[in-house]
Amino acid sequence: MIDVLLGLQWGDEGKGKIVDYLAKKYDIIARFQGGPNAGHTLYVNGTKIVLHTIPSGVFQEHCLNLIGNGVVIDPVTLQNEINKILPLCPGLLHRLFVSSRAHLILPTHRALDAASEASKGEAKIGSTLKGIGPAYMDKTGRNGLRVGDITGKDFIEKYNRLTQKHIQILRQYGEVVDWKQWEQPFFEAVEQIRSLNIVNAEYWLDNHMKNGKQVLAEGAQGSMLDVDFGTYPFVTSSNTIAAGVCSGLGVAPSRIGEVYGITKAYCTRVGGGPFPTELLDETGEALRVAGNEFGATTGRPRRCGWIDLVALRYAIMLSGVTKLIITKADILDQFNPVKAAVAYIADGKETKEWPYDLCNMSIEPVYESFAGWDKPVSDCIDYNGLPQAFKDYCRFAENYLETKIAFISNGTGREQLLAIP
Ligand code: GDP
Ligand code: IMO
Ligand code: MG
Repeated sequence: MIDVLLGLQWGDEGKGKIVDYLAKKYDIIARFQGGPNAGHTLYVNGTKIVLHTIPSGVFQEHCLNLIGNGVVIDPVTLQNEINKILPLCPGLLHRLFVSSRAHLILPTHRALDAASEASKGEAKIGSTLKGIGPAYMDKTGRNGLRVGDITGKDFIEKYNRLTQKHIQILRQYGEVVDWKQWEQPFFEAVEQIRSLNIVNAEYWLDNHMKNGKQVLAEGAQGSMLDVDFGTYPFVTSSNTIAAGVCSGLGVAPSRIGEVYGITKAYCTRVGGGPFPTELLDETGEALRVAGNEFGATTGRPRRCGWIDLVALRYAIMLSGVTKLIITKADILDQFNPVKAAVAYIADGKETKEWPYDLCNMSIEPVYESFAGWDKPVSDCIDYNGLPQAFKDYCRFAENYLETKIAFISNGTGREQLLAIP
């Protein structure tokens, strides 16, 4: 069986920390979508690490780590990441595996991302500009280059053919982006990828699972950034929900076991697009400061607001979440009251369903208010020690979402995680 862990909001829910913790009981951690737009933070012996492409199981020495076919790889980012963590990560190169079917992000993909965003003006997505959208467009447009192509004699020829196509498009944008400067580092990094363990990952995984190995699929981004079900067009270019695991790793739906869904105790979003519970006042600013809400990949300030149970229930439904994990509970310690959206007034009508097009309608959240708690959640070391008011807030969320909370995270450290009975 393969378990899944994914974000239920707009990304940055704390997936890196939780995967690093859960990896203790898994043999393999596998990324199934996204690419260097992801920034997964973990603390290893007090050192902060941000992973972009490499799965968050690498710091558990017994764990194998797979970059699956659904991921798009920027060779330079991957090389930098490997070089950075190698001294902290014994046996990394023996424990890291890459699917031959994963697609490559070319220097011109990054240039196209920049040109496309610039052409949108005010309506820009707020992309991380890592070339994600253009790389996935070439994948589905059947033009892309894959990791397996690196080993072929005609790699340069294929590279030049695709790059020429991109240059034509870049001319139409009228954008002058100096992507040539990225070409030499790209080819140097491609050489390094050649020396990694490149595998037919679907067979590789199948064999391990038949031998009884436990696998955890690690999501990137969040459910509300899913290309089909998120706040389109303000989304990323992959399926971030549990369905993405099957196509992004080559495993059958019948093999999926537990689905861990992660949400912050409040809500954040980085980049453009609808965010019904966003707080543009001093409470929003206070959440940003308390939660240190600045992007792990781009450093941009994250937009902040109250938890949105309408959106969460939608995300839980889409992925069949069996266990809920609440992170950053400690950040709410200083807020009183604490609020949760339980419905929307959408174009004048109350609904508990996620509407089709939030971009073109008025959305007013309906909030339930909770009293703040009298002692800090951050100090607690087990469930029994949690303040009653916080427990009440959690029970309300569990009932609304019809999903059990498995863990509550109350700090950045590996050990700051309370199992809920
Ligand atoms: P990811 O993309 O889902 O892995 O999340 P990020 O790493 O982008 O952002 C989550 C941030 O919250 C990181 O800086 C984590 O160190 C931090 N974090 C995770 N869990 C907790 C928690 O329970 N409390 C606090 N205070 N910080 C947390
Ligand atoms: P992790 O895995 C938060 C957002 C971008 C932008 C939109 C599209 O760390 O949770 P893209 O670069 O994919 O074209 O950007 O998606 N975005 C993320 N936001 N966390 C992420 O990843 C994100 N990856 C992309 O800000 O709004
Ligand atoms: Mg992140």
